[in-house]
Amino acid sequence: MSKSGTVSMANLAVFASGNGSNFQVIAEAVQKTGHSVEFLLCNNSSAFTLERAKKLGIRTYLVSYKNRDREEVEKEIFSLCKKHDISVIALAGFMKLLTSYFLTRFQGEILNIHPSLLPKYAGVDAIQRSFESNDPEVGISIIKIDAGVDTGPVLFQKAISRPESMTIEETEAAIHALEHEYFPKIVIQELDKIQK
Ligand code: GAR
Repeated sequence: MSKSGTVSMANLAVFASGNGSNFQVIAEAVQKTGHSVEFLLCNNSSAFTLERAKKLGIRTYLVSYKNRDREEVEKEIFSLCKKHDISVIALAGFMKLLTSYFLTRFQGEILNIHPSLLPKYAGVDAIQRSFESNDPEVGISIIKIDAGVDTGPVLFQKAISRPESMTIEETEAAIHALEHEYFPKIVIQELDKIQK
């Protein structure tokens, strides 16, 4: 919010590695606000998320991690963020860890969606591990990123009960539905907070 009480425009970048369903719902929601989806950054040339960006008319950057130092890659990512004056990054199924090299330089917010009720089931295969547990609930977490694996401060969590009869497919669909409902809202909430 600016001093005059009006919401200023802020720039978002989304980082994704795979299907990109979260990228798509975020991009569609943000495009209806005054904020700008500046680019999708992807580390996987065969990711479906690249097709989604093309259809939405959103610029993409493909960044390769292959045979490169993490620092060199993050330097490239940082300069893209600087070039586009990015205030908020949404990690939407981005399967690379950002290290302290990037985290100490980037001054904006970095939000991450995770398909479990953290601190439970941090890391990969979280839906599978939630499903295989005896937990009566499953859910999602939206966190701010730190240098650990899914250890940053929790901004938002939503749980749903899980009847014994629920299959893995149904569990997955329910978790994705929660992600699609809430991640765009939290991203827009953070963009609205940026003072320009
Ligand atoms: C989402 O379920 C997201 O929570 C998960 O990857 C999926 C990406 O789906 N992220 C993580 O597991 C991060 N640790 P999408 O590509 O369809 O948005």
